[in-house]
Amino acid sequence: MKKVTVSAPGKLMLLGEHAVVYGHPCLVTAVDRRLYLSISAISNQQKVIINAAGVEVKGYEKSFDELGIGDIPKGAQFIEIAIKNFFESNPKIMKQVEDPLLRIHNDKIGLSIKTRSEFASMFGFGSSSAVTVCTIKALSEVFDRNLSQKELFDLSYKTVLDIQGNGSGFDVASAIYGGTIYFENRGERIVSVISDSIENPDSGISGNGDEEKFPLLVGYSGVKADTVTLVKQVALLGAQQPDVVNGIFQDIEKIVHHGREALEKKDFVLFGKLMDQNQDCLVKLGISTEKLNSMITAARDAGALGAKLSGAGGGDCMIAITPNSSQQSVKEAIENAGGEIMNVSTNTEGVRVET
Ligand code: PMV
Repeated sequence: MKKVTVSAPGKLMLLGEHAVVYGHPCLVTAVDRRLYLSISAISNQQKVIINAAGVEVKGYEKSFDELGIGDIPKGAQFIEIAIKNFFESNPKIMKQVEDPLLRIHNDKIGLSIKTRSEFASMFGFGSSSAVTVCTIKALSEVFDRNLSQKELFDLSYKTVLDIQGNGSGFDVASAIYGGTIYFENRGERIVSVISDSIENPDSGISGNGDEEKFPLLVGYSGVKADTVTLVKQVALLGAQQPDVVNGIFQDIEKIVHHGREALEKKDFVLFGKLMDQNQDCLVKLGISTEKLNSMITAARDAGALGAKLSGAGGGDCMIAITPNSSQQSVKEAIENAGGEIMNVSTNTEGVRVET
């Protein structure tokens, strides 16, 4: 059995969080911090051994017939359930071929899985979806399954739902497709919005006839957000005030449509305004925090074209679209408001085989 290493990018939500859980669209971009996962064979031991140092998993072992059963350390959950789902669904995916589990039993081998991440799980860059996508992609390579991107999405999304119970799947799609995508209705529509970087200083892209480039600045609030709790919080608000929350979701949907057009036209001034409007909606949903609000206000006051939180809220990161001329002042403003600047570039490649 060959050793395979794959990698997938982290992500940042540009517009549309929370509403996307209810089928509305969002825009998401892949960032240049990646998660790497390798699978190799171990002889004479028919089990899975997982080492994920970044999430404190060291030499965790499970036999194939116990996958998904009993206690699973948090850091190994997505890998273990992804492996289980791959083996269980595999006969459905490829009816003609031999079951990979049979092959493992015949060859008397086990699987050793190792991960390495360029981003800590606390930043909200989507480490769970990236590791899920990597696990299934690597298994697909090891067992020559050649899964399509759609099959990879379906299996990875199922894995995330099995563990989290809810979620739109936008992060899974971003890890697979990369770039900047428009994502709708749990993956029914996934459309690439821009194929070239919106922020790479070498890309030569300028905004709205202006010669300046428009990088996205990212500020970490220092607080880890709990996505599941925040999604539940919004669901509760929706149950209490359905008209209000539906109205906010409709507004967000319009913002996302306009945002897609603005990105396609590379009108970053308009995109900034839409980010601000989206932030107002998220404040109304009650998921922004004082810390995020002050980082966002500071960024705007220092020259950002627009700023908002990115992701579930309650912490994690804010993003600010910022012309080159204001880069330094906006960075300093975010830091003075207590944020930590994360140097990432956006619109990067989706899952790929490294070796
Ligand atoms: O917390 P993150 O970065 O995983 O983003 C969550 C975005 C939500 O819309 C709140 C949830 C989802 O699954 O789309």
